[in-house]
Amino acid sequence: MAASPSFRSAAAAGVLLAMVVAAVCLPGAAAQLCEDYYDDTCPDAYDILAIAAEISVELSGGPSWGVLLGRLDGKTSDFNGSLDLPAPTDNLTVLQQKFSNLSLNDVDLVALSGGHTFGRVQCQFVTDRLYNFSGTNMPDPTLDSSYRAFLSQRCPRNGAPASLNDLDPTTPDTFDKNYYTNIEVNRGFLNSDQELKSSPQAQGTTAPIVDQFAGSQDAFFASFAQSMINMGNIRPVTDPSQGEVRTNCRRVNGS
Ligand code: HEM
Repeated sequence: MAASPSFRSAAAAGVLLAMVVAAVCLPGAAAQLCEDYYDDTCPDAYDILAIAAEISVELSGGPSWGVLLGRLDGKTSDFNGSLDLPAPTDNLTVLQQKFSNLSLNDVDLVALSGGHTFGRVQCQFVTDRLYNFSGTNMPDPTLDSSYRAFLSQRCPRNGAPASLNDLDPTTPDTFDKNYYTNIEVNRGFLNSDQELKSSPQAQGTTAPIVDQFAGSQDAFFASFAQSMINMGNIRPVTDPSQGEVRTNCRRVNGS
């Protein structure tokens, strides 16, 4: 029986993936992440996180992807490195710069931010948008007024900063495209979420990608899976002289 076009393209994709995996697993290659790294050893903490992220997304209705393995845990913690992480108050220009410093582009930024289609967020990350946006003593003008009224009830001005809210109130525990449809109607929770659509710099850069993902869950899922692989492959430590497999996820061995 002749292979159907979809089978042929899936097979071609499989061959391509095998070539990529072979390339990164070859001895002496720059990175040595592999599909079957743990035949003889135990996973390290970093790989466990990468696997857990994939399984959580899949179990919540999202896409699946092959997690390449073999990262080693670092032997030091880098406080200054943590300052490079994106912040919920960042504007689009800063977000783009921080992602680009890690070779992640606008599609990666928009697709990965879609991780906020599920999970919870503390009130402290929205209070400035509700009550004192950019020091104006006024709410963020890009925040939908009925969503603002809803959030103001949940997060009163002097309420508990750690109270939890849904990042996506429409489908809080489902991995779907509603993160983007929320942003389209000015219902992004974090400033960093709404910036992807509402920043003046978003026009012609991230806003059209938000529009695309709001219209096509398939497009979002395909990009999210690829961007998770891209993010998981940022400068992995694979050289045993530079890293280790932690016996306690929270601690460097021997500390
Ligand atoms: C674009 C830059 C990002 C910023 C500024 C950001 C910021 C935040 C903040 C402030 C929270 C709430 C934490 C809390 O209240 O304790 C959060 C939660 C969360 N973020 Fe992000 N995030 C970003 C990117 C990502 C990415 C790339 C992913 C995954 C692909 C992701 C997935 C999540 C999830 C799943 C939660 C909910 C966690 C829970 O329910 O415990 N975020 N993020």
